[in-house]
Amino acid sequence: MIDDTHWNTLLAEVTTEANTYDSLTPPLVQTSTFTFPSAESGARRFTGEEEGYVYTRLSNPTIRLFETAVAKLEGAEDGLAFGSGMGAISAVLMNLLKNGDHLLCANGLYGSTFGLLDMLNERFDISHTLSPLASAQEIEAAITPSTKAIYLETPVNPTLSLVDIELVAKTAHKHGLPLIVDNTFMSPYLQRPLLHGADVVVHSATKYLGGHGDVIAGVAVGSRELMQSIRMTTLKDIGAILGPFEAWLLLRGMRTLALRMNQQVQSAQTLAHYLLAHPAVDKVYYPGLYAKDKAIMDKQMRAPGAMISFELKGGIEAGRQLMNRLQRIKRAVSLGDIHTLIQHPATMTHLLVPREDRLKMGLADGLVRLSVGIEDVVDLQSDLAAALRSDL
Ligand SMILES: Cc1ncc(COP(=O)(O)O)c(C=O)c1O
Repeated sequence: MIDDTHWNTLLAEVTTEANTYDSLTPPLVQTSTFTFPSAESGARRFTGEEEGYVYTRLSNPTIRLFETAVAKLEGAEDGLAFGSGMGAISAVLMNLLKNGDHLLCANGLYGSTFGLLDMLNERFDISHTLSPLASAQEIEAAITPSTKAIYLETPVNPTLSLVDIELVAKTAHKHGLPLIVDNTFMSPYLQRPLLHGADVVVHSATKYLGGHGDVIAGVAVGSRELMQSIRMTTLKDIGAILGPFEAWLLLRGMRTLALRMNQQVQSAQTLAHYLLAHPAVDKVYYPGLYAKDKAIMDKQMRAPGAMISFELKGGIEAGRQLMNRLQRIKRAVSLGDIHTLIQHPATMTHLLVPREDRLKMGLADGLVRLSVGIEDVVDLQSDLAAALRSDL
């Protein structure tokens, strides 16, 4: 059990341990392969009888340190690093599912995860159903004899509504199904799904874990047995591995995870309330703003996070103008960065999606997504105030 009160100490420890050189920071072992002291030793490393590294696609000391650090933070037995969040998600799903199987999913998922599910369906006959997963009856009604796992993100993009991890995990386990949770929006500092019954947690480590906008990476954590199985199949043989330098950068970023998140959450709370009262804003989506999510939030989240979605009354044109008027807040996709990032799906990420389909995904014309960074909140608020003139 992780001591919930000393996160800065914990982060400093888990990101530097296993250090054989007594250096303050973890060693960067930037090598593709490892030498064997003898032919016999090499043979024993291949059979697993002897501890030691063989080849960086299989494992590497710096990457291993990142994997075990995230596993400890999430309360898991083991972890696996990948070259991107999508690398982690695809490796986990392709390990657990085979043709003819079915995956039950929460109905708000990251766009490329949808893309992956469509590809698995079209090319490999692995089907899926989307459901709000809001009650045991609803979940049970969506489970079929072919269902092999349940997959969710919470908070759900873009409305940031919440899914009750414990409820879904209990129902999944009643049917012998593993639950996979994408914890990217929260980070282990704000939410640890395994403690609420989930079996696997995946992250785009590109976001809060790295935190500095300089790495694309993914990680999955879960039981030792499952991680070993993924390592030897969809990680080793598909090969979406992380590089040692990226693992080192992630370890550096993670040391300040709690400090960053505290500041980001505090600023996000201030900005969510500011936006809620603004005459140009129609709706604000932020966990905890409305009573309906309070019980789930209190149960599984330390704080509401630093992602805010809001809808401008003026639709597409208002969104475009807001983007162009901002001076400090950066127009960019991605999230979880120390810089505050903003994007307008209707004119950016979802420009090519037919309007009708985009609206079905909950992405209204004037919807804007803000990932709050560590800048001073007065500067962020004045940037928004100047850009959100009454004509929006
Ligand atoms: C919730 C979520 N999951 C997964 C991903 C994919 O991560 P990556 O871009 O590192 O492949 C993203 C990327 O934005 C995301 O927001």
